[in-house]
Amino acid sequence: MRSKHPSSGPQNLLTDAQQTFLYAACFYPYVRIIMEQACVFGACKCFFLPGYIPGCEESLSRQQVWSGLVGLPASPAHCPVSIHTMQHHSALSHGAAAPWQSPTASSMARSETQPSHAHPDRDYHPQPGGGRGCLTRCFALPSAGYRYNDLVSPHYLTMIANLSGCSAHRRTPNCSDICFHQKYRTHDGSCNNLQHPMWGASLTAFQRLLKPAYQNGFNLPRGFSLAEDGRDLPLPLPRLVSTAMIGTETITPDDQFTHMLMQWGQFLDHDMDQTVAAISMSRFSDGAPCSEVCSNDPPCFSIAVPANDPRVRNGRCMFFVRSSPVCGSGMTSLLMNSVYAREQINHLTSYIDASNVYGSTEQESRELRDLSGRKGLLKRGRVVPSSGKHLLPFAVGPPTECMRDESESPVPCFLAGDHRANEQLGLTAMHTLWFREHNRVATELGALNPHWDGDLLYHEARKIVGAQMQHITYAHWLPKVLGEAGMKMLGEYKGYNPNVNAGILNAFATAAFRFGHTLINPILYRLNETFQPIRQGHIPLHKAFFSPFRIIQEGGIDPLLRGLFGVPGKMRVPSELLNMELTEKLFSMAHSVSLDLAAINIQRGRDHGIPPYNDFRVFCNLSSAQEFEDLRNEIKNLEIRENLYGTTKNIDLFPALMVEDLVPGTRVGPTLMCLLTTQFRRLRDGDRFWYENPGVFTPAQLTQIRQASLARVICDNSDHIQQLQRDVFRVASYLQGMVSCEDIPAVDLRLWQDCCEGEEGMLCH
Ligand code: HEM
Repeated sequence: MRSKHPSSGPQNLLTDAQQTFLYAACFYPYVRIIMEQACVFGACKCFFLPGYIPGCEESLSRQQVWSGLVGLPASPAHCPVSIHTMQHHSALSHGAAAPWQSPTASSMARSETQPSHAHPDRDYHPQPGGGRGCLTRCFALPSAGYRYNDLVSPHYLTMIANLSGCSAHRRTPNCSDICFHQKYRTHDGSCNNLQHPMWGASLTAFQRLLKPAYQNGFNLPRGFSLAEDGRDLPLPLPRLVSTAMIGTETITPDDQFTHMLMQWGQFLDHDMDQTVAAISMSRFSDGAPCSEVCSNDPPCFSIAVPANDPRVRNGRCMFFVRSSPVCGSGMTSLLMNSVYAREQINHLTSYIDASNVYGSTEQESRELRDLSGRKGLLKRGRVVPSSGKHLLPFAVGPPTECMRDESESPVPCFLAGDHRANEQLGLTAMHTLWFREHNRVATELGALNPHWDGDLLYHEARKIVGAQMQHITYAHWLPKVLGEAGMKMLGEYKGYNPNVNAGILNAFATAAFRFGHTLINPILYRLNETFQPIRQGHIPLHKAFFSPFRIIQEGGIDPLLRGLFGVPGKMRVPSELLNMELTEKLFSMAHSVSLDLAAINIQRGRDHGIPPYNDFRVFCNLSSAQEFEDLRNEIKNLEIRENLYGTTKNIDLFPALMVEDLVPGTRVGPTLMCLLTTQFRRLRDGDRFWYENPGVFTPAQLTQIRQASLARVICDNSDHIQQLQRDVFRVASYLQGMVSCEDIPAVDLRLWQDCCEGEEGMLCH
């Protein structure tokens, strides 16, 4: 294989560093994880994934080494292709025995997955740089004479980390352009906190409230296997928990709030967090796709299905891939001569900054901007003839998840600031609204300030859009979710506190905020101007996944939006949690065994080492439950108390938070309230650009931002909606409960008119 890198230099010469790398590749349990990281952070070096380095024999050509070292530019999506190519040319494809299946190789591979003789309680002492003896004993590293730090000195380990890209993402942001950083957010969230510039930045580790709970104290999910001495109590299979207490056919409509309460929650979540998935969807050990195997072999961690499952039979399982670890945590921490438990990565900026509109990296933001007209706009897609407004642009590149069934849909995915914009039609409609809102604001600012250039228009519009999202979230949405009790717990805003880290908590992203899954109706309603079903009818949720063609062919975004604010949402009832579209038909178009969102959430919690519910009760000043009876004040549901979990110490966080009885006047139970307020307080107090932080806006501008509402954004950016209720989260009947858009207050952008040309003033740029 020849390097395609144009400036890759003399390919027949290997420097010391490169040879060291090759040498280290022999320890591929480590190297492969570094590779996983390298792909995540841009320079994808798939060629070194295990299985393709046959025991570091001569067969690995120098060119291969070189092309691995220079990192052929490839996006993560290309990795499997590269793997495939390598596999094709491998010894195996010519009928020879697979060298990586030699006992040594497979036992080394197992060291990541099956430290069966590890006894965490007795042996694990998480001391940074915990010593070689501990490493081999605790993590069952291969004992046949391999001790990685005997063979590779710390100096070389660092070099390997650097070469592999493992340390490349430890970016040190440059916050020196203080004129910019005083006024505007960066796209990746860095430099928000000037003392800790990476706090809240994209592609950094999730925060932890409590130390992670892994089965081996280090990187293996709880419930992964039972200790041989029977010390562990079995954890129920996530799919069993789902079928026993989560899936529901019965839906009770919310008597107060619309389905928009759910939709804002998801849209908001996609401004705050997205966990980086493992870079490959295929087993590292032999390249088999995780969708076709039922093994727990990294990165596959398939969801096992109980024998008597109501839907899935014949020993089949559900697709699941572990989240990518932070480089230098879990196995790769050993490379750095230390022992740190596995941590996961947030792809997004944690701040509520409309990163779902603008992207979470500089590069993403560039792909979304229309730099041609210097008007500060975002790129636009097709025009809707009836309104003259634009749809989102299409994502370019290889066929995507939106075009799985060519006969049904030749329409590609839409491109937006968050990669999940096409996940279901209601969400896509929200993305469309907000990208239009940016362009509307930028255009209006341009008319008010003809001397502003494209960059200034873009940044000012972006600032206003982000501030509106914060206002809608804290002034309109959170009070409905948290009620009076929760808002009191959240407390008043008292100004920016640079000591608060606004990073997203792992337990928030992996369990608490997924409470929104219990608000989802199984049907997306689609209503016409008189709030009657459209000709094509309502749509069951599973037909709304990744189907942007329906926006183009079935009436645009208006019917979906009316269906969100014109129909009650699903009430949170502890005995009616996730609708069956989510537990039995999730992404059915793409998977031979449809997925189950409840089982995924539980499995994800274990993947991330989320400690059990009881530990969070203690964090939240509730009692530590010794007996199931001790839960009776917060959880009436007997299923979780009596049948599924052997001990109160074992209960997974997600299902327990979901079955907590609601605090009156709220949509949450007590521990969930505590976790949500903890996160939302940090997001507010630790954000230097919080819209109410004095100096971010002038007092007059802030008064205007406080006029913002989702109703107004719908009036301004839907195709034709003219009738709606002032508060679109609150149930209202057509026509009596609704008003005309003329009666909905708007943000007066004249307060952004630059009145100080040539002199210091409000907006002297
Ligand atoms: C129809 C609507 C929705 C669908 C189909 C959906 C589906 C999903 C799926 C497939 C995942 C990835 C699970 C995993 O692999 O771990 C996910 C993650 C998540 N969902 Fe939803 N979801 C919906 C609505 C919501 C709502 C309303 C909320 C909150 C109010 C929410 C909050 C979250 C959070 C916090 C995550 C984790 C994101 C991360 O990786 O950081 N979702 N959802």
